[in-house]
Amino acid sequence: MTAEIISGRVIGNQIREELTAEVTKLKEEHNITPGLAVVLVGEDPASVSYVTAKGRACESAGVFEETIRLPADTPEQEILDLVEKLNDDDRFHGILVQLPLPKHVNEEKVLLKIDPDKDVDGFHPMNVGRMVVGKPTFLPCTPHGIQELLMRSGNGPEGKHVVIVGRSNIVGKPMMNILVQKAVGANATVSVCHTRTKDMAAITRQADIIIVAAGVPEMITADMVSDGVVVIDVGVNRVGMKPSIKTPGKMVADLRGDVDFEGVKEKASFITPVPGGVGPMTITMLLKNTVESAKKTIQ
Ligand SMILES: NC(=O)c1ccc[n+]([C@@H]2O[C@H](COP(=O)([O-])OP(=O)(O)OC[C@H]3O[C@@H](n4cnc5c(N)ncnc54)[C@H](OP(=O)(O)O)[C@@H]3O)[C@@H](O)[C@H]2O)c1
Repeated sequence: MTAEIISGRVIGNQIREELTAEVTKLKEEHNITPGLAVVLVGEDPASVSYVTAKGRACESAGVFEETIRLPADTPEQEILDLVEKLNDDDRFHGILVQLPLPKHVNEEKVLLKIDPDKDVDGFHPMNVGRMVVGKPTFLPCTPHGIQELLMRSGNGPEGKHVVIVGRSNIVGKPMMNILVQKAVGANATVSVCHTRTKDMAAITRQADIIIVAAGVPEMITADMVSDGVVVIDVGVNRVGMKPSIKTPGKMVADLRGDVDFEGVKEKASFITPVPGGVGPMTITMLLKNTVESAKKTIQ
């Protein structure tokens, strides 16, 4: 069996088209333009490129976006004051503080300062709590995007055994909480593996759906999965540089997932590629949360 590809680019574009239509309607019928404020402290190249991609995505969907760039040595209090100002600024329905923040800044303190009603990243403890008990809230973008990938590729998790590898606060744990809910798009039986899991392969082989977010290049190999499994690879690992296909003579980052794609695709029924799988969905769900937040302001 060679797996069918679940493309985050294709599904992400479908959702972005739906969002663009919603944004147009919000503008025409309610005179509301969804707005996102992005705070970028310092010039970490990965953060700069994420923020640029987020800005572009907002622009193409008609969402107003403003990136506030601060130098790396900005005092913590100045960042907290800025977040407070953004909380009170009606132009913004969402606020995103790009992580990681420089070492002298307490990330938790900054995230706590964001108004939970504008927390479109879904990291505020209030929203995390609402997610855990199954109340409507902003879901963290990467796991929310994975849920959409599963549903829209015809691989809804209801009744399935989902094995998640990784228990980070941004992917593994929220993924577990989302899929275990008694709700449409959930109702799964969920196992979570991590570095202290014994005989992980014995568990991953039981999976109907496996979601890997460990940050270890190609750690899931064909012998660790069963025939017909659905594989979602969250990992993005830079293993070196390679010649660009698009621009001859240019070198680009050689990115690998956490799954040995070539081997596993021969056993899986569906699989996400890296890049082009989970990545595009993360930004799409940020747009979705921003539009949802704007919709809530309709009286
Ligand atoms: N595409 C996207 O939009 C997107 C978004 C977020 C993250 N990512 C990527 O996803 C990957 C994971 O990110 P993250 O932030 O969740 O990572 P993280 O915070 O480093 O957490 C990694 C998790 O994987 C577990 N783990 C690591 N090595 C393992 C092993 N050999 N066996 C079993 N479990 C193992 C760790 O276990 P312990 O808890 O025991 O240490 C930890 O829970 C990274 O490659 C990241 O770049 C992609």
